[in-house]
Amino acid sequence: MTEETLTIRNNSTGKEADFSLLKGTIGTPVIDVSSLNKKMGLFTYDPGFMSTSSCKSSITYIDGEKGVLLYRGYPIDQLAEKCSFLEVAHLLMNGELADDAKQAEFEHEIGQHAMLHEAMRSFIDGFHYDAHPMAMMVGIVGSLSAFYHSELDMNDPEHRRISAMRMLAKMPVIAAACYRHSIGFPFVYPRSDLSYCENFLNMMFSLPSQKYIDKDNYIDPVAVKALNLLFILHADHEQNASTSTVRLASSTGANPYACIAAGIGALWGPAHGGANEAVLSMLEEIGTVDRIPEFIAKAKDKNDPFRLMGFGHRVYKNFDPRATIIRKACYEVLEGLGGSEKDPLFELALELEAYALNDEYFIEKKLYPNVDFYSGIIYKALNIPVDMFTVMFTIARTAGWVSHWLEMMAEPGQRISRPRQIYTGHDIRNI
Ligand code: CMC
Repeated sequence: MTEETLTIRNNSTGKEADFSLLKGTIGTPVIDVSSLNKKMGLFTYDPGFMSTSSCKSSITYIDGEKGVLLYRGYPIDQLAEKCSFLEVAHLLMNGELADDAKQAEFEHEIGQHAMLHEAMRSFIDGFHYDAHPMAMMVGIVGSLSAFYHSELDMNDPEHRRISAMRMLAKMPVIAAACYRHSIGFPFVYPRSDLSYCENFLNMMFSLPSQKYIDKDNYIDPVAVKALNLLFILHADHEQNASTSTVRLASSTGANPYACIAAGIGALWGPAHGGANEAVLSMLEEIGTVDRIPEFIAKAKDKNDPFRLMGFGHRVYKNFDPRATIIRKACYEVLEGLGGSEKDPLFELALELEAYALNDEYFIEKKLYPNVDFYSGIIYKALNIPVDMFTVMFTIARTAGWVSHWLEMMAEPGQRISRPRQIYTGHDIRNI
């Protein structure tokens, strides 16, 4: 087959050059402009990366028009229904779902890497009790760089694999430790006899005086299933802002723990992972159904910075399949955890969604609920405090970050990521 090309012509000078059209397995074709400067003396300008592919990747595929999300080719709804979070993490990191023996080995190794160095406890103690848990996460995950010098030869695939496993294993332990510190409760050590999600719930909620798990090892299966579901849905989302941050930082050859800490910083923003916390605050501020029109009007007002949190997405322009799955799960979880699907916040969220989806502004701009619109309702039902919501996203997205990092580091001929700019300052001048 002949290579498809595209010609770019400078209409002022008449100079033109051909550029290859690259195609993935599925998805929109991409113009390879890497030689644009050499051939035409030009750069591209695309703030916010509205039309830019920054890399090749075989991990996750999104079709924003059709509401499709695939991890390694598998539709998200199938994974959400049939897999645990660690099965999905194995898939993302290694490219395939594991058989039972391999999965058991993977989970055993995660269990082995879960413990934190005891010195990290005094590091965590150094934070003020009211520090935001995401601030603590950035610091503590970055500090892992100081603990694991011996396995940091990034040219060694085994060192890279161990670093990735460590991050996945330790993230829930660090997250729970941040929470326990903020409420002044003793840390709970990870247990290798519990699953990833059970372990996290136990580390969050077990007390010396009142165990979260009883003597029969009972832990509410509804809570565990809900947590697995949310972690799977948040595990990866191709080149989102935090994953791109991890990739960009890693392109310098920086320490992987520092790169993931950079990703956590990016995730924290309210336009990205911080939206789940912002949705809950927004719903609480709206309070009652009769105030919905007032807040919709604010969201539409160009002079008001308020946006409807949990609405809109750069890629999804029809629906976010993750939001559809979470909305459905809310009924099951609220009922199953002994509450009621008549939870006032859930009812308010449903009304708000219905109102917005009938509003011309939201229809015209193709703004739909995203993954963060309903996730907080479930986290709240699991007794996760609101300021921990983005931390929950962090635990889940670690699977995606380390998968992208592993993929990128294994690629030969890696280059440092170094965009250019349109300079708008002074021309040369003398003092
Ligand atoms: N409420 C009101 N107006 C909105 C909203 C919203 N939530 N989202 C977008 N718009 C408007 C925006 O003002 C713009 O209008 P105009 O064309 O007149 O200037 C238009 O819709 C397009 O928005 P944009 O900001 O140019 O789109 P983007 O692709 O750059 O941003 C977004 C995507 C998710 C940052 C944005 O929709 C947003 O801020 N949403 C609220 C925050 C949120 O829920 N974030 C979670 C995203 S999903 C999870 C994740 O990524 O972590």
